Amino acid sequence: MTTVNLNILLLFLVFSMNAVLSYKSMHVESGELCSPITKRKIKLGKHEDSALLVSQKRLDDHSLKWKVDFKCTFEIDVSSHSDGVFAVIQKLILRKNETTNECIDYIQFKRDDGSNISRHCGYLNAELSMGKHFAPYPFSSDLAPTGNSYIDPKGKLIATIFVSREPLLEGEETDFLLVFTSYKSCMWNKQDYLPCLPHQTDKCIYVGFFHDGYVNCPYPGCVDENECSPEKLSESGFKILPTMILKNQFRRI
Ligand SMILES: *[C@@H]1O[C@H](CO)[C@@H](O)[C@H](O)[C@H]1NC(C)=O
Ligand SMILES: *[C@@H]1O[C@H](CO)[C@@H](O)[C@H](O)[C@H]1NC(C)=O
Repeated sequence: MTTVNLNILLLFLVFSMNAVLSYKSMHVESGELCSPITKRKIKLGKHEDSALLVSQKRLDDHSLKWKVDFKCTFEIDVSSHSDGVFAVIQKLILRKNETTNECIDYIQFKRDDGSNISRHCGYLNAELSMGKHFAPYPFSSDLAPTGNSYIDPKGKLIATIFVSREPLLEGEETDFLLVFTSYKSCMWNKQDYLPCLPHQTDKCIYVGFFHDGYVNCPYPGCVDENECSPEKLSESGFKILPTMILKNQFRRI
């Protein structure tokens, strides 16, 4: 292997280790996130501490009827009053009554004043739901969030995860992976924060979340961010990462 190749490999290893370490990660079986008696408040910090991964570990172990429904409500709270928060469902498999189209299990987002309730079930996959073809003008600065995403400009998002006590039938499963990311105005921390969309100066996220295998920005076409803001990439220095590796990394989720 040539020195150049080796250097690239080392850089990639260092980068991917950082990428993995940079996320706070919690699962719904943890008492830190889900309590049967109270609504936990999860505080997002700055830089690599400004995002949270939420997943499940044993909820799909559900062949018997539970005594009660599983319901977990938590609040995502950002560190500064002026910041907001994005929620992006990376993947979701939850039961839906095909006759009534109602959710049997669901993930729900709302604001802390109870407004803008958004409920999700069925099958969702970020890579499929966030393609460029969902955006008529992929580089516009006022794109609507995709169907698997949610924006809370006040940064006090209330999330609920509900799984019915009814057992899973043969061939049914429950699974999900959510990413919450706080965003801030691009006026501050110019080196460390980049906009999701090239001309959008009010919503910047930590640069380390670009090309890390998780979708943080809620807009169509940004799948793992850089597609929405290609000119920013060359300034950030992360462009040595081969796209193929990143794509594969994303598929593994
Ligand atoms: C779906 O809803 C219908 C009508 O309420 C009900 O009869 C049926 O049992 C439901 N199916 C499931 C799988 O919950
Ligand atoms: C609720 O969400 C919709 C669409 O995402 C948005 O247009 C509207 O302004 C939101 N309402 C409030 C009170 O922010």
